[in-house]
Formats: sequence, structure tokens, C-alpha cells
Amino acid sequence: MTSRYRVEYALKTHRRDQLIEWIKGLLAVPFVLYSQPTGVFEGQGKNSLARTREEAHRRYSEILRDVELMIDDHIAHQNDAENPFPSKLKLLVPSIGVFFTRLPLEAAFKFQDRKRYISSRRFVSPSFNDIRLMLNSAQIMAVTTHGTLQLATFDGDVTLYDDGQSLEPDSPVISRLLDLLRKNVKIGIVTAAGYTTADRYYERLHGLLDAMANSADLTPSQKQSLVVMGGEANYLFEFSPSSPHLLSPVPRARWLTPEMKTWDQHDIASLLDVAEAALRDCIKSLNLPATVMRKDRAVGIIPLRPDLRIPRESLEEVVLVVQKILELSMVGRARRVPFCAFNGGRDVFVDIGDKSWGVTVVQRWFGGQHGNDALSSSSSASSSVSVSGGIGIGGSGNGNGDGFIKGENTLHVGDQFLSAGANDFRARSVGTTAWIASPLETVELLDELGELMGKKMS
Ligand code: IMP
Ligand code: MG
Repeated sequence: MTSRYRVEYALKTHRRDQLIEWIKGLLAVPFVLYSQPTGVFEGQGKNSLARTREEAHRRYSEILRDVELMIDDHIAHQNDAENPFPSKLKLLVPSIGVFFTRLPLEAAFKFQDRKRYISSRRFVSPSFNDIRLMLNSAQIMAVTTHGTLQLATFDGDVTLYDDGQSLEPDSPVISRLLDLLRKNVKIGIVTAAGYTTADRYYERLHGLLDAMANSADLTPSQKQSLVVMGGEANYLFEFSPSSPHLLSPVPRARWLTPEMKTWDQHDIASLLDVAEAALRDCIKSLNLPATVMRKDRAVGIIPLRPDLRIPRESLEEVVLVVQKILELSMVGRARRVPFCAFNGGRDVFVDIGDKSWGVTVVQRWFGGQHGNDALSSSSSASSSVSVSGGIGIGGSGNGNGDGFIKGENTLHVGDQFLSAGANDFRARSVGTTAWIASPLETVELLDELGELMGKKMS
């Protein structure tokens, strides 16, 4: 790819998060005005590193404090049903969605600046990643110090383990997850990987499941605090030390929400038929080295052989084409069955439901209603809200009914948050989120979380 083409490709809105880009733009101004590249060769004068750093730090902090206040104002608008006018933030970043908590951005900036030396940089301005990590820190501070974290949900590929790999016993993430369970936080692994049987999930998660089974200090109730939600929102398994693969499937009748119960089998099959035909057309028109994989609740394309790679541009083209075709199809227009088309890095899948439904089910499961009829009697369907424009239908909306773990007490950690073709993005409509880029970042995030929770307890 020529660099010119790459630049234009990256500029496409589906490749950008508007809130992060907007903050980046705000921080670029003090960077240009106050960072002093000449200080590198001018020594200890007025442009010395210490002075520049101090000044840049003060300016960045002030801006982030202002953004923090603007988010507070947005939250006040969000909570005021009488007010018909958009907030200032909504006018500036039209794709902004719902905030479940306030975000202490100034404190989060100070924390990340200590780690990443953002204010000390004179040639590289605050970046997308600086801001993404700062938003994560702010979110974690909010769910621990200002609130109480009750449920943490995790994506699988790229979040807990490398793409296509498994959670091996030596993964540093395992001890952090056990630590969350010890602190009585519920855990849901909400993955798109869709398997109908426990053995396949055991294969992917065995390091964690074995560690839980062998742990002497987790209480039985803490061991009951882990579920796996597979295929985005299609297969629920609970941890079960006595089952052959340490997981036991939970029949759909015990966990489907009332809205999910209305998803008609005929509509599901028609939607997957349309998606399959569109995927087959894409394989032909883009000459992809891929084959179609049809499942009970999903259809996707995967490389013909493990050593083959489908170009990223082709994967994204397929997602956007299939999504459009589905939206315009009869079954898609009827909006009776939500779906999620996404780029999995090496493959493209269209799943029935999405992670907003998956996280919702877990919120209800641990909210005290599972296994009884109350599950089907209360529900608060609100519209789905997405931060940078959603795809498909998505969004079950919840967080305020009895017997739910609320959005403000939920944190979903994932790697896919760009609006088009990103499956973790949908979880934003039902809880707070953290956007990581590798399993190592998940470990760092969990350490940050553990430290804040520890401080709060003491
Ligand atoms: P996640 O990152 O844990 O959500 O997993 C996404 C990956 O799971 C996809 O990129 C696929 O490689 C894999 N996968 C396996 N089965 C399915 C399925 O039925 N639907 C979607 N993804 C699947
Ligand atoms: Mg992932």
C-alpha cells in the first residue's frame, strides 16, 4: 500500500473514534504552542526539559479538566428527560453516546503522564493510544473509587489471549482474574467464538478453568461467579468443577431475555441465508482465499488454509458490504433479529445478536434472577446508544431494572471498538468499557484496577 493510500484509508470514519480524535485535536494545540523541540539542543535555558514539561503538563491537565466538566454537563443532559436540547459535547462530537459514569480525566491524565511521560515529549504529540489509555484509566477510577465494580466482562481473542490462541496456564492474566473473583467481582467471558459444546471452550480457556478448579482459596460462591457467553449472545456456560470440561451448558430457556425470546427461528435462518449469499458474492468479487463457515447462529468466512491471510482491506470491505446488504434486506429491515457483522482480524463473521445482548444476559444472570421465572417478567428496553455510530440493530438497553447488575457497575474489556465491524463496540450501550490493544494491556489494566480496588478497601 502506498503511504498516501494508507493515510486516506485511515481517515475513513469507520477507522476513527470521534471522541478520541476530538481530544487529540484539543491537546495538539498546547503541544504545538508549548512543547519546545529546540530545548533538545539549547540546554538549560527557558526551553529546558523541566520547564517545558511542567508547562505542557499544566496545559494538558487544564484541557482535560475542561473536557471532564463538559462530560459532566453531558451526563446532566442525559439524566434530564425534560431537556430537549443537546449538550455542548453532543454538538461538538455528534456521535457521542451515553456515559454510565463521570470520567475523572484530569486525574487519569496525571496517572498516565507518570507512566508514559506524555508532557516530556517534544516531537511526538499526545497520540490516539495516549488518549485511549487515559480514558481507560478514567473509567477504571470511576468504577472503583466513585462506584463499585460488580461485574467485569472480557472479550476473548486479543483481550485474554492472542488472536486465535488459547488461555494457557502460564498466562499472567489468570492470576489477575482469580484476584477479581476473590474480591467478589463476577466475571463473564463474552466472546464471539461460537461453539455449542463445553469441550471447545475448555480448549480455549483451559488455563483459567483449571486454575479455578485447583484453587484452594476461592469459595464455592466465588467459583460460581464465572460464566462464558459464547457466539456473542448465543451460548451460556457456567463454571462447574464437577463437569468434564469444568463448564456446564445452561439451557436457553433459563437465560434468554424476554426480547430475545421473540427472535424467531425462521427470521434467524433467513438472516443467515442472506448473509451467507452476500459472503459468497464477496469471496467471488474480491477473489478471496476464503471459504464460508455456516453455523447454527452465525455465518462467516475463514481463510482456506491457516497459513493464508485475507488482506485487512478485503475483510473490512466484506463487513461493510454484508452489513449494508443485511440492513436493506427484508428480514434486516423488519429489525426483528439483531445481528453483528465484524472483522475478526483474520476472518469475518455475522452473528445473531451482539455483545450488548451478551453482556445484558450476564448482568441479569448475576443480578439474582437466573433460573427462575422472574427473568421473563421484567425488562427495560431502551434504545441502543453507540459512541461512534452503530451497525446492525444491536442494543438491548438495560441497567436500571431490579435484579440487574447496572451499567455503571459493569466493565467490559475488549479490543474491538471502532464503529464498523467491531464487536466489543456494542457493549458500550449496556455498561462501561475499556479498550485494550493486546493481552498485555489487559494485564496492566487489571493491575491498575486491582490497585484501586485494594486502596478503596483499605
Ligand atoms: P472474540 O474476540 O473473543 O470476540 O472472538 C472473535 C473470533 O472468534 C473471531 O474472529 C473468529 O475467529 C472466532 N469465531 C469462532 N466462531 C465464531 C462464531 O461463531 N462467530 C464469530 N466468531 C467466531
Ligand atoms: Mg477480540
